[in-house]
Amino acid sequence: MTVEGRAERELLRLLTGPWVARAVAAAVELGVFDRLADAPEGAAALAARLGLHPDRLGRLLRLLASVGVLEEQAGGYRSTAVGALLCRDHPSGLADLAALYDSDMFTAAWARLPEAVRTGGTAFEAAHGTDVFTYLERHPEEAALYTAGMAAGGRFASALPDVYDFTGARTVVDLGGGDGELLATVLERAPGARGVLLERPPALAAARTRLAGFVERGRCDLVEGDFLRSVPEGADVYLLSRVLHNWSDADARTVLGHCRRAMAPDGRVLIVERVLPDEERPWLSLVFDAHMMVMTTGAERTESEYEALLGAVGLTTRRILGLPLEMRVLVAEPVPEAP
Ligand SMILES: C[S@@+](CC[C@H](N)C(=O)[O-])C[C@H]1O[C@@H](n2cnc3c(N)ncnc32)[C@H](O)[C@@H]1O
Repeated sequence: MTVEGRAERELLRLLTGPWVARAVAAAVELGVFDRLADAPEGAAALAARLGLHPDRLGRLLRLLASVGVLEEQAGGYRSTAVGALLCRDHPSGLADLAALYDSDMFTAAWARLPEAVRTGGTAFEAAHGTDVFTYLERHPEEAALYTAGMAAGGRFASALPDVYDFTGARTVVDLGGGDGELLATVLERAPGARGVLLERPPALAAARTRLAGFVERGRCDLVEGDFLRSVPEGADVYLLSRVLHNWSDADARTVLGHCRRAMAPDGRVLIVERVLPDEERPWLSLVFDAHMMVMTTGAERTESEYEALLGAVGLTTRRILGLPLEMRVLVAEPVPEAP
C-alpha cells in the first residue's frame, strides 16, 4: 500500500469513529451484549431471541467483531473482555456511559463545537439554550441518565482509599458528590469518619439510595446546596471529584475559596481530576478536555494551572497521587504561614 493509502485509511478510521460508537451504543440498546456475555450465539438465533431482523443484526455483529467488542467463535459471536463491560448488569455500569455519550443531549452539544471554538461560547448552551446543570434540573429522565453515566465513569474512584489514607479523617465533605458512590467507598474504609454530600436535586435522589445505610446510622448527611454560594463548615476533608473541570477559573476559585474559609485548621482539599502533567499530552485527558469545552465553561487543567487557582485562595499543592485512566488526586493544603 502507498504511503497515501495508509494516510487515507488512518483518516477514514478517525472520521468513521462516530459511526462505530453509534453501532456500539445501538448494540447496548438492543441488548446484544447482555446475551453474548456467557456463550456464543449465531445471528439468526440471537435475532429470534431479541426480536430483531436477522440479516441486519448479522451485519452489526460482524462490524462489532471487527472492532474488538465481540469475537467470532464456533457457534456464533461472543463478547470479548471489552464487550463484556457493556452488559447492563456488569458492575462497571459502562452500558449507562455508552447510552449517555450517545444521547441527543451530548451529541447535539458536540455538533456545535465549531461555534464554540469560533466564539469562545459553550457548545452545550448553543445547542440547548441553557447550561448543563440547569438543563438537567428541567429534564429528569436525562438527569437520571447523566447521574448513572457519571457514576459509571467514576467507578475508577473505588481506588481512591487505596492511594489516599482516610483513616483518621473526621468529616469528609463530598461537594457535587453525584450518586454517593465515592463517599460510600470512603466511609466504608474510614469507619471513624462522618460524611456530608452536597448536591443539586437531580443527583441527590440517587445519593439518597446509595447512602441510606450511612444516613440511618447517623454517619452521613445529605445536603441540597450550591457550592458556588457556600460549603459546609469545619470539615477536615473536602472532596471535589470531577467537579472543578466543569467550571471556569473564576468559579473554580470561588468554590476553592469557600473550602479554604470553611475548613478546619488541619483541613485539606482533595481534587480528583485528570490533572494534566505540565510537560505531557495524554490523549484521554485531552479528549475529556475537549468534552469539557463542549459541555461547560471548564477545562482539564495542568498541575501549574491548579496551583495558580489554589494559590489565589491561600491553598497549595501538597502532593499528587495516581489513579486509573489518567485520573489523579491533587492533595491541597493551606499555604503555611510565614514564621
Ligand atoms: C461531573 S459530576 C461528578 C459527580 C461525582 N463527584 C463523580 O466524580 O462521579 C458533577 C456533579 O456536580 C453537581 N453540581 C453541579 N453544580 C453544582 C452546584 N452548584 N452545587 C452542588 N453540586 C453541583 C452535579 O449535579 C453533578 O452531580
